[in-house]
Amino acid sequence: MGMRMIHMDQNCPVENTSKEDNDLPLCVGKIEDIKYSKRISATVYGREIVVFYHEENLHAMDLHCYHAGGPLHLGEIEDINGQACVICPWHKYKITLATGEGLYQAIDPKHPSVMPKWCSKGMKQRIHTVTVKNGDIYVTLSDTSLSFESDHYADKYKKPVHPSLNK
Ligand code: FES
Repeated sequence: MGMRMIHMDQNCPVENTSKEDNDLPLCVGKIEDIKYSKRISATVYGREIVVFYHEENLHAMDLHCYHAGGPLHLGEIEDINGQACVICPWHKYKITLATGEGLYQAIDPKHPSVMPKWCSKGMKQRIHTVTVKNGDIYVTLSDTSLSFESDHYADKYKKPVHPSLNK
């Protein structure tokens, strides 16, 4: 599938931002652009995230897959068991866009011929809050007092924060 990617790095800085303000919304792009590209990757206070536009909804999550750090911004979106999921391009793990749950198919060994059921491994990928104001998309990083498996790769690939954001 041909995929158009937009990457934004602090393209519309937040005013009055200090080192303690990592919980403030940061603009990552424009709604008119994501409607066309279907996804935007961005760095929010040093953390790499991806925003997907799917069926008129916006979903933000850590960009690196919780399994081994794969690039979720390059993954296909598929409907699995009624839930929109991104399929990690590295090992095909399925992650729900709305909740960051890892899905897997469970086979009942006593009834191997029965169609395997989709089950959840729980929330593995950190989801962030997306808001839209005046046509701009903002991402607010979620509360890091709760940990998610994707935090490991978010920390590993953490980018230095642009000095203009720490005035
Ligand atoms: S890194 Fe995503 S499935 Fe392995």
